Amino acid sequence: MSKPVKERKSRPVNLDLQTISFPITAIASILHRVTGVITFVAVGILLWLLSLSLSSPLGFKEAADIVDGWFFTFILWGILTALAYHIVGGIRHLLMDLGYFEELDTGAKSAKVSFAITAALSLLAGILVW
Ligand code: HEM
Repeated sequence: MSKPVKERKSRPVNLDLQTISFPITAIASILHRVTGVITFVAVGILLWLLSLSLSSPLGFKEAADIVDGWFFTFILWGILTALAYHIVGGIRHLLMDLGYFEELDTGAKSAKVSFAITAALSLLAGILVW
């Protein structure tokens, strides 16, 4: 049975977003899901580009022009960064499945390490594409 409207209105509500913060392990988990979806979408984009480049000599030129543009270079860097985090975070997940980093403190530490490794890989990806 639903509660009277007056009682529901008096419940404490915190909408001050600046006072809400997620634990680092939650951020690591959300990012792993987000990067999984980005990687999934990226497979479609990259397959489309491959198919365009193989369609004809003109298609190859079109694909080469797209890849040369700054916008696609940026997208490519984003895709590689997302993939890097997904793989690093995925390995962290698999290690947790084996029983490592399961405590709150070790989980938080491994999340930080996975962010640091991803930052380094993202930098390398930037050097690779630019
Ligand atoms: C085309 C490549 C890939 C795509 C599109 C992809 C996509 C996804 C997606 C959408 C999820 C679900 C995330 C969730 O529901 O929270 C997931 C989970 C996972 N991925 Fe990937 N992934 C890819 C490659 C990889 C690779 C190379 C690894 C290697 C480490 C990996 C490790 C994992 C793990 C361990 C999970 C489960 C995480 C959990 O238990 O919550 N994935 N992936």
